[in-house]
Amino acid sequence: MDLLHRLLYTAISAASIIYIIVKTSLSHWKRRGILHEKPKFLVGNLGGVGGKRHISTVLEQLYEKYKGQAPFIGCYAYLKPMVLVLDLELVQNVLVNHADHFKERGVFGNAPHDPLSANLLQQDGADWQRLNTVVCPAFVDENISQMLPTLERVAHTMHRSLALSADTNAIAVNNLVDCYNIDVISTLAFGVSGETLLNSDTEFRRMARSYLKDFNMFRLYFLMYFPNVARLLRYKNYEQAATDYFLKLVRQKLFEQEWSRLDKGNSFFHMFAELKRHREASKRLSDEEIAAQAFSFILMGLETCNSAMAFCLYELALQPELQQRVRVEISETLKRSENGLDKKSLKSMHLLRQCLYETLRKHTPYAFLLRNTNKDYEIPNSVFMLQTDNHLVIPIAAIHRDPALYPEPNKFSPERFTEENIKRRHPMAYIPYGAGSRYCLAQQFAEMQMLVGLATLLRDYSFSPCRETPIPLVYDNKRLVLSPKGNLILKFQRV
Ligand code: HEM
Repeated sequence: MDLLHRLLYTAISAASIIYIIVKTSLSHWKRRGILHEKPKFLVGNLGGVGGKRHISTVLEQLYEKYKGQAPFIGCYAYLKPMVLVLDLELVQNVLVNHADHFKERGVFGNAPHDPLSANLLQQDGADWQRLNTVVCPAFVDENISQMLPTLERVAHTMHRSLALSADTNAIAVNNLVDCYNIDVISTLAFGVSGETLLNSDTEFRRMARSYLKDFNMFRLYFLMYFPNVARLLRYKNYEQAATDYFLKLVRQKLFEQEWSRLDKGNSFFHMFAELKRHREASKRLSDEEIAAQAFSFILMGLETCNSAMAFCLYELALQPELQQRVRVEISETLKRSENGLDKKSLKSMHLLRQCLYETLRKHTPYAFLLRNTNKDYEIPNSVFMLQTDNHLVIPIAAIHRDPALYPEPNKFSPERFTEENIKRRHPMAYIPYGAGSRYCLAQQFAEMQMLVGLATLLRDYSFSPCRETPIPLVYDNKRLVLSPKGNLILKFQRV
């Protein structure tokens, strides 16, 4: 047999094997007789995601098509069979009531070789348990309240930077809030006074934007199917340059803190640094673990807060009367508290808070939650059972846009979040931060950070649409966290 024939036979055999593997994987739900969305070759039900469609849109379409027919359906993330949860009772059982069956999230991490992945999001099992016990106390109410003065200081710098661009009259609000959130993170999580609002091209910002490797479908397949091999091969999620930068920054600050007699200040960084010398070995954090906790503010808290703050300003720009009511509330509250933004005054800005909640409903930053079944689970009052190692997707953005829960879901109506209206809904009808033991531990801090920034801007500036404002809004399908495509430009004016 000549070389050409051999090559031909090898290619045909390889193609047949791949075809059989793909076909077998994509018939998982059919073989089990579970209601499912018909998959497409190689992409499953994620065709077009990252290109023509956002993952949020895909999940919303599936949710709307099948809700009410079964507590869950089968679907495919590329070749991987996934369980798409549709019923709010099941959501509550998975996240809260029977969470001991669903402790793991299953996001790939490789802490020994990729130190920044030693964060709570990417850890499961005993590693998560230990880290959660050690890190959670930093996020209690008393600690985060002490960070309010720093947030106010950074917000004032944002206010000043807006005043400096007053001659331009219009600004990309997504960019403005990105600088604010970056400076908050560098100051409070890394202990380094942020300067991005004064000079937008800082190294910290560059690194905070470039830590992720470019999207690659083959890499994704590899991590989904062979996570242990990936670990063995020392696979890293994050770019080496970013890892080196953040590790060096943290080590340098830890060294300075050890030798400095200065006031240690109130910040997450200082609290994490204290854990380096904890009496109990199991509660002690290494330098790398401290860097990973600081990094989780970038990983989980940057694009989410950017998205919520920018979309909130956008929605208020489209509703000038609502914006004016918010401004009056802020001014009156600040007058009562003699211009300081303390915990009490923030709490009494009900309308601003409702606007933020409504933004997180209409433009939910994370479209879904993930859980793995760690032991078989019989769904109460049904004939269904979830097997060990099922991968669950909870489509929170789709739930937040369900017309049965939120009539006219495209309408921006903060009154959906009055106390009475919240009480009328199922507790799982609104979960932008997740729920149960793996919910977002920084929820209170994130809300304080966003409210301080928004109140500082809206008190003195009005925002309105201009020629460059994208109406209707277009999302960037390439990004996982819901973000605008291009810039969100708004006209602004001092009031
Ligand atoms: C608008 C702002 C934010 C939103 C919407 C948000 C949303 C979420 C969501 C949906 C989850 C998954 C919850 C689950 O699986 O049940 C999560 C987890 C997490 N978030 Fe946030 N987040 C925000 C801000 C932040 C900030 C500022 C931080 C800073 C540290 C942060 C840190 C984390 C961490 C560490 C986890 C993993 C918790 C665990 O598994 O134990 N998030 N967040």
